[in-house]
Amino acid sequence: MAAVLDSVRAFLAPKSFIIATETPADVVARENLLDRAMGPGRRKKSSEKLRRGRLPAEGLALVARDDHGHVIGTVRLWNVEAGVGADGAAVDALLLGPLAVDPAQEGKGVGGALMRAAIAEATARGHGAILLVGDAPYYERFGFFASKAQHLVMPGPFARERFLGLELKPDWLDGAAGMLTASGRKLSRAMEQRRAA
Ligand SMILES: CC(C)(COP(=O)(O)OP(=O)(O)OC[C@H]1O[C@@H](n2cnc3c(N)ncnc32)[C@H](O)[C@@H]1OP(=O)(O)O)[C@@H](O)C(=O)NCCC(=O)NCCS
Repeated sequence: MAAVLDSVRAFLAPKSFIIATETPADVVARENLLDRAMGPGRRKKSSEKLRRGRLPAEGLALVARDDHGHVIGTVRLWNVEAGVGADGAAVDALLLGPLAVDPAQEGKGVGGALMRAAIAEATARGHGAILLVGDAPYYERFGFFASKAQHLVMPGPFARERFLGLELKPDWLDGAAGMLTASGRKLSRAMEQRRAA
């Protein structure tokens, strides 16, 4: 019920921002925003090990822009293998993060809009599940729960109660166990392809 009220309120609220796919011209603004919102420790997180040297999952780097086109929010999702399933095969999933909103724009629904857009786009692209490390009281409203990631581990220190999962396809994470590993496109290979083109 709370989730329904949340979406109705977000729908009725006056919008002064849009959600769009990130472009190369947004990168500097995004990095500055992340420094402001998350501080210098942001690069030491275990999630960073799964992002370093990789490109985000196709179509899943989003920004929120204000009326002037300035980046006021960012979210990206990354291809990972979430351990193995009961059949011993790797379980493909997405790792979400970082999600951040310009501190001056917090509480206006920007974070929620980014989350809903990311979940919708990941679903439309056929992904099975999204994992993240974050505050459960915030992410539960979007359907993320620690129980979905209970047999998975991050490749570094993490707080178990903050490691959350959302299934986009029924039972996708059932039996998934083991350590997350990066499986996305490598940055260097993408740059080589761009040079060759
Ligand atoms: C967390 C963050 C993305 C939320 O963005 P936002 O645009 O302010 O979020 P929304 O406006 O969509 O939602 C605001 C609601 O979320 C709640 N909220 C925000 N952060 C929360 C948290 N860490 N835990 C629980 N609730 C939280 C607010 O209290 C507010 O609740 P209300 O709707 O009942 O008033 C933003 O505060 C941020 O960038 N924080 C710093 C970076 C960060 O910590 N990111 C990871 C989050 S774990």
